[in-house]
Amino acid sequence: MSTTDQRVAVVTGAARGIGAATAVRLAAEGRAVAVLDLDEAACKETVEKITAAGGTALAVGCDVSDEAQVEAAVARIVQELGAPTILVNNAGVLRDNLLFKMSVSDWDTVMNVHLRGAFLMSRACQKHMVDAGFGRIVNLSSSSALGNRGQVNYAAAKAGMQGFTKTLAKELGKFGVTANAVAPGFIATDMTAATAERVGMGFEEFKAAAATQIPVQRVGEPEDIANAVAFFTGDAAGFVSGQVLYVAGGPLN
Ligand SMILES: NC(=O)c1ccc[n+]([C@@H]2O[C@H](COP(=O)([O-])OP(=O)(O)OC[C@H]3O[C@@H](n4cnc5c(N)ncnc54)[C@H](O)[C@@H]3O)[C@@H](O)[C@H]2O)c1
Repeated sequence: MSTTDQRVAVVTGAARGIGAATAVRLAAEGRAVAVLDLDEAACKETVEKITAAGGTALAVGCDVSDEAQVEAAVARIVQELGAPTILVNNAGVLRDNLLFKMSVSDWDTVMNVHLRGAFLMSRACQKHMVDAGFGRIVNLSSSSALGNRGQVNYAAAKAGMQGFTKTLAKELGKFGVTANAVAPGFIATDMTAATAERVGMGFEEFKAAAATQIPVQRVGEPEDIANAVAFFTGDAAGFVSGQVLYVAGGPLN
């Protein structure tokens, strides 16, 4: 493939953590990558990492739960990088609390970022995939989809991502578009560091305690997830669709 028909990938929530590692990994695979996050300036570090390694990247500021911002962001990506045919719906937030203490706002925020965000981004990008007769959508689910105390909102959203993924696979397969979900277990990022802080533990101690419960005896790194996303977004994965891959250092169910 020449540089003029280089595939364009969009990774949401790519300023840090799993999204940043995924953006860097997809760029290393030769993709031109739209590094999308709430704040364009926060995407700078990821973009610089990609360009320093000789890749192509564009920082895009966008709230994935806002329809107008999503439409504008995708239009800009088409203009500045080209039509996106790879989409990784990774943007995410936690608003943990036990059911009896959970506010409506915390419920809605989690639903809006994960589910509404993935819906809006997928709807905006699918047209370009259908036009190209090729597409790869990867949605970030979580081991919490199986149920997790204090995460009734997040667990529902991440289980929702799985049904969303399977339906995209059924609707879009005939256009050469696959959709799969990656469901991480414990990955060391700002998100899990914030959880450690919330429960009053140091991050190192929190990770060590988590590792004892994981068969491979370590917590995951963002690159562990980026590797799985790279597989699903590759040209060679065209017969793999509608799947949920738990990447958790062991089986979960
Ligand atoms: N870290 C883990 O252990 C873990 C486990 C399972 C699933 N996940 C999922 O993986 C994904 C990435 O997690 P992470 O640990 O890298 O989190 P993180 O908090 O380190 O990064 C998430 C990124 O998403 C961005 N974001 C949040 N709301 C957004 C919005 N409305 N629009 C655009 N960007 C937005 C944030 O600004 C941030 O840069 C999330 O979907 C998360 O739920 C993480």
